[in-house]
Amino acid sequence: METQDPIPLFDELVQPAASPVPDLLYLPRAALLDELVQALAETTQAAVSAQIERIRAALDQATTPPPAAANSPAMIAMLRTHLHEALDQIVAAHTTERAHYYIERLVKSISEERTSAINDINLNRWKEYDDILTDSLWVIDRRDSSGAHMADYWGNFIPQIPHQMMRRYTKLGDWVLDPFAGSGTTLIEGQRLGRNTLGIELQASVAAAARQRIASEPNPYGTQAEIVVGDSTRTDYPALLRAYGRETVQLVLMHPPYFDIIKFSEDPHDLSNAASLDAFLERMSQLAAQVQPVLERGRYLALVIGDKYVKGEWVPLGFQTMQAVQQQGFMLKSIVVKNFEETTGKRTQQQLWRYRALMGGFYIFKHEYIFVFQNV
Ligand SMILES: C[S@@+](CC[C@H](N)C(=O)[O-])C[C@H]1O[C@@H](n2cnc3c(N)ncnc32)[C@H](O)[C@@H]1O
Repeated sequence: METQDPIPLFDELVQPAASPVPDLLYLPRAALLDELVQALAETTQAAVSAQIERIRAALDQATTPPPAAANSPAMIAMLRTHLHEALDQIVAAHTTERAHYYIERLVKSISEERTSAINDINLNRWKEYDDILTDSLWVIDRRDSSGAHMADYWGNFIPQIPHQMMRRYTKLGDWVLDPFAGSGTTLIEGQRLGRNTLGIELQASVAAAARQRIASEPNPYGTQAEIVVGDSTRTDYPALLRAYGRETVQLVLMHPPYFDIIKFSEDPHDLSNAASLDAFLERMSQLAAQVQPVLERGRYLALVIGDKYVKGEWVPLGFQTMQAVQQQGFMLKSIVVKNFEETTGKRTQQQLWRYRALMGGFYIFKHEYIFVFQNV
């Protein structure tokens, strides 16, 4: 039996030891395409399969550490499982024509990028974005606590929220505005993802702590992450953006106080000290009106907020705030319901709430909302 030569071009094939996504391979694009084109030249299904098996064997041996060039256009990042699935499909094809069709599709996904105007998702490889959520119910059990992300700021959101929003609604190098920056979760995540971020935070000490965190996080894309101290409901946004050489941003991500549920400070400008629910909603409505002109047309605004109880009555604060934003002409695109993660430390308290709920005829808050709007 004739033995096949190993594929020499795949000598460069690498699997970064510290890949942020398990199973991610960085492959030399041209070499992979060459091998697939060779498979296309085969005229029998047996020969096609043999060539595909050679590619598969080369992938299985990929263990070399990453070269500095892993991010270069000459390399292509692919999930090992997805590549294997695509190769399986070619081998399992019943006819050579069908196998060629699958190869051509794989070649296209490797050689051509098809992205929309609002993100960098390559639609030719849409099946590979398993980590991007598209359902309206998010059950996330564990907060991302890697790097500078910490859970110690009471009232912060989980980093997965800004992560998902920026992956869906921004491109590399875009600008994101967070009018309630808090501990800087959006800015840290933006720095990781290569998005420039501009945060506003009312409390100077909170802003200073956030800046320190952001500075401790690597900045692989050399992006800007700026926090200014101020009242985001009374900010001159065009002037603020001009200071950073910008006229518009590509995403606004708002995570305001949930009215008075958590008192963030004694400052009367703090939205958690709004005189009434109506006053809170009025200021949120004004904020939406103020940011609209600086949000690029067609781009998105995400509002993260939950509901509250007052004297035994459920107040739909989330939907009321959603309406306040809608009133300014934003088009509602989605309502995501996200769970609150369980913390083991609060187990006794949870039991107490369960007892109270059984007795008092109500349900315990286990969710908050992400309202997604488009600036049409
Ligand atoms: C729900 S927290 C945001 C937390 C943030 N997403 C994080 O992950 O750390 C709301 C933040 O808004 C700030 N804040 C309240 N009123 C404000 C206002 N009028 N302008 C700017 N910031 C305000 C509070 O100090 C608090 O840090």
